[in-house]
Amino acid sequence: MNCTVTGVGLAGFGTVGAGVWKILQQNNELICSRSQGTVQMEIRKIAVRDLKKTRDTDAPANLFTTNLEQLVDDPSVDIVVELIGGTDAAFDLVCAALKAGKPVVTGNKALLAEKGPELFTLSQQQRTPIYFEAAVAGGIPIIKALQESLIGNEINSIAGIINGTSNYILQRMTEAGLAYPEALQEAKQLGYAEADETLDVNGWDAAHKAILLGSLAHGFLIDYENVYVRGIEKVTPLDIRFASELGYVVKLLSLVLKRENGEIEIRTQPSFLSKKHILASVNGVFNAVAIKGDQVGESLFYGRGAGQGPTASSVISDLVEACRNNSSERGFLPTDQKAALLRLITPRLLTMSAFP
Ligand code: NAP
Ligand code: HSE
Repeated sequence: MNCTVTGVGLAGFGTVGAGVWKILQQNNELICSRSQGTVQMEIRKIAVRDLKKTRDTDAPANLFTTNLEQLVDDPSVDIVVELIGGTDAAFDLVCAALKAGKPVVTGNKALLAEKGPELFTLSQQQRTPIYFEAAVAGGIPIIKALQESLIGNEINSIAGIINGTSNYILQRMTEAGLAYPEALQEAKQLGYAEADETLDVNGWDAAHKAILLGSLAHGFLIDYENVYVRGIEKVTPLDIRFASELGYVVKLLSLVLKRENGEIEIRTQPSFLSKKHILASVNGVFNAVAIKGDQVGESLFYGRGAGQGPTASSVISDLVEACRNNSSERGFLPTDQKAALLRLITPRLLTMSAFP
């Protein structure tokens, strides 16, 4: 089959970046045939920090560089994939790619939640899109669901378990009786945790994702300083046992709620979930996002929220979309500045036994 070949520049070849390489090695023909011959991708540059690191792929050494700028400058690279994490070098890279008119695919929720206003504005100005399916809930196609499938709905509530590391830790503490540090170590070895796991356990990784979901659901850019965030660091085995005796499980829950006055409430915190609640059985690295729309009613999205294959699968779906649409006309991006975010500074006990 004759496919158009698109050159991809991959920044980052860790858990997710190497996963993208592996999927393209394994399923490039499948992708080409499923896109009726319109899409074939070739990775033409890979930027990493350390050229001497041993890597478990057959990627040729001549593709590697430590210079992120090469991805933007190389004319054979049409799309830049940012999978290095952090908000400094990643911000510079994404800005440079957009300014050069190269679409960007990223899984970096911290970058988008904290620097979304600058980046989405630049994307609009340059008419060059940013795709970010991998930034929320790993392999679950929740971004496309909000941007496309649920576009005819007012979104009344979103309740999600959207940090795989915390969920994995809580489950291992509950079921295997592991202490917190051992459970965290396992999550790191499995490639679920961030390079710096602080954001996973202090709630901010989930909060960044909730901010992105809130922006897409309600159409305005959300100031991350106004959301309420607590992590799981202080959850003890005793809390978990106590919750269980009362008929609850402890989960790190993220909520995006539309209040009656129209204000949007966004919070991430450890919460008591009734054992009968549909989210209570979401265990380990699995994530789930329960969305209530005014037309569709309740919908539940479930799948692996972290790890190599699931996350790279989302990156690939964005890459295919980027290959198909070489313009900024895509889905819905937050631009409405009129909606209001409730400024959350007070804690409250969260218990849930039904959709909010
Ligand atoms: P990772 O395993 O730590 O890999 C990071 C990669 O980036 C490494 O290859 C590293 O190079 C490279 N790198 C870092 N800083 C660099 C710089 N300044 N210049 C060039 N290369 C640089 O991270 P990951 O787990 O793949 O995550 C990547 C991104 O995806 C993050 O934004 C993360 O939040 C997001 N994400 C991850 C998951 C997951 O399950 N892991 C899920 C969803 C989203 P070296 O290899 O030489 O060290
Ligand atoms: N560290 C993140 C998590 C990766 O554990 O959910 C997926 O975004």
